[in-house]
Amino acid sequence: MSEVHIHPVPAEFASRAHIDAGDYEKLYRESIENPEAFWSRQAQDFLQWEKPFTRVVEEDLKKGHTAWFADGELNVAVNCIDRHLPARAEQTALIWEGDDPADSKNITYSELHEQVCRLANLLKERGVKKGDRVCIYMPMIPEAAYAMLACARIGAVHSVVFGGFSPGSLRDRILDSDCRLVITADEGVRGGKTVPLKANVDKALADCPNVHTAIVVKRTGADVGWNGERDIWYAESVAEQSSDCAPEPMNAEDPLFILYTSGSTGKPKGVLHTTAGYLLMCTMTFKYAFDYKEGDIFWCTADVGWITGHSYIVYGPLSTGAISLIFEGVPTYPDASRCWQVVEKHKVNSFYTAPTAIRALMGAGDEFVTKTDRSSLKLLGTVGEPINPEAWEWYYKVVGEERCPIIDTWWQTETGAHLITPLPGAIDMKAGSATKPFFGVQPALMDDQGREIDGEGAGALVMKASWPSMIRSVYGDHQRMIDTYFSAYPGYYFTGDGARRDADGYYWITGRMDDVLNVSGHRLGTAEIESAIVLHDDTAEAAVVGYPHDIKGQGIYAYVTLKAGHEPNEELRQELIDLCVKEIGSIAKPDIIQWAPGLPKTRSGKIMRRILRKIAGNELDSLGDTSTLADPSVVEELIEHRANC
Ligand code: PRX
Repeated sequence: MSEVHIHPVPAEFASRAHIDAGDYEKLYRESIENPEAFWSRQAQDFLQWEKPFTRVVEEDLKKGHTAWFADGELNVAVNCIDRHLPARAEQTALIWEGDDPADSKNITYSELHEQVCRLANLLKERGVKKGDRVCIYMPMIPEAAYAMLACARIGAVHSVVFGGFSPGSLRDRILDSDCRLVITADEGVRGGKTVPLKANVDKALADCPNVHTAIVVKRTGADVGWNGERDIWYAESVAEQSSDCAPEPMNAEDPLFILYTSGSTGKPKGVLHTTAGYLLMCTMTFKYAFDYKEGDIFWCTADVGWITGHSYIVYGPLSTGAISLIFEGVPTYPDASRCWQVVEKHKVNSFYTAPTAIRALMGAGDEFVTKTDRSSLKLLGTVGEPINPEAWEWYYKVVGEERCPIIDTWWQTETGAHLITPLPGAIDMKAGSATKPFFGVQPALMDDQGREIDGEGAGALVMKASWPSMIRSVYGDHQRMIDTYFSAYPGYYFTGDGARRDADGYYWITGRMDDVLNVSGHRLGTAEIESAIVLHDDTAEAAVVGYPHDIKGQGIYAYVTLKAGHEPNEELRQELIDLCVKEIGSIAKPDIIQWAPGLPKTRSGKIMRRILRKIAGNELDSLGDTSTLADPSVVEELIEHRANC
């Protein structure tokens, strides 16, 4: 490994930070040695309770069980809105920046309260009750946040589906959690193009007889199909509702939301998060990892369809009473200066994005950045995938002018909030490392024998204890949660990631150890893409692996075997790519398709993905032993016709 350059915490920053190095040591130690006292204090400081809790934590990781503050009651919408009204009714809660640079607006906390109450009342009028599931399939407009909070206010469980997913993916998610109501828009707008959300909903709902209502925001005014018995317009329907809605008291362990994410096998899993523990961790990490100060303007570029948008556009910032910027567009539209122009326009103080965006913007050239005024920026963050040191240094020097600490935050849909991240006033940075655990988080590395590794070393990243925002279940299939996260290393939560710990105790995430791809920071299961490809009549079999990609982090490499009598050609290649887009969404578009007359298999018929990954990544010297394959000559053939990437 090349020598690692340490960037110390800027002294000026540390002197004003919520947590400095001494605080971190002290509080971290307390959080591990005396978790009950630590978490009890945090839960009282950070959240407003309707009924105080008397129990702090119960856990049995062998069974995948945890419960936090289990006899307390609170409401998430009250914590994100009502409790701020006395002090900041007229303060901006959300800044919306449209896809078109001429479109933006500010929403105050009192406007947020009104909007959320009106929609909550509409949901109730349409029969939604506590515990019912509501699907949200929206562009990045304020109504997406209103919808999430309206569900939280009445105790409905939301399932936000990313607006880039196909009708088929939307249908599967609606059916899996039996949503009865969908909130959507006529169209989305991204990068100057429209996205036919309502048309996608219409296709999905053709197979979802239980959905009785679709509430449609008029975003573009396009002509859309209309089912008079099911569809209602958002604006006119909420206008008829009262602007007050009593919040539903929720138990700390009542479900808050379901969010689907990809795993190694099968269909995406509905990760279930509950009320108090989730909100506590989002709120705490928001304050400490971003070192959020009163009045700061915070911008997370994620989509609300991902966990990052849930935790750091909506719940963490609003629970803190912060100002959160919600961006409808993409970083490269109208050009690669857009992010920095938005920073300049709204005087953004903290900017949080994915390494894939940083790499793309770096490739566009420094001029797009340096021509803007970024003096408002105090802190930069990354999330979603490992950041290569080159991109880190560019972000630090060119975007942040060596003034802004970078927090490289490691976490997952299942963890709900940051678990490993620098606290910017406390922990020196090393480019490419997520550094140290957050309070109460106890990472460990496991070797091949399932033993904990001491000190420096590399292995499977696990957690030794639960944390408040840990996944509680896979919706409708609790056993699947136990099998996926709590079986590989009994008594530990297994993240699916590999990591290295250096001599200073810093963690370096090395990537997934399973068949999950991370393409531009988006998680995709290889099995999902393979299933789409084999839907084509001409295909017999497919195996999908990731390979290193300069911008996306990982690209999608598909090996496809055709049925006897079918010849590969360009038209077929395009049909297979289109099929992946149709079945899953454009994030699942294969970058490379290699025609494979045969796939490397063991004698028992298992595809040797390890070998396919090496071929795709052009690591031909380290293929390992291929003699145990049923037909070793298959490998020669694949190498000979390897696609150039
Ligand atoms: O492999 C890790 C990677 O993203 C996975 C989680 O993906 P998802 O559930 O979609 O959540 C993404 C946003 C939290 C992890 O298992 N990952 C996430 N953050 C980092 C990361 N890999 C390296 N460094 C990170 N900072």
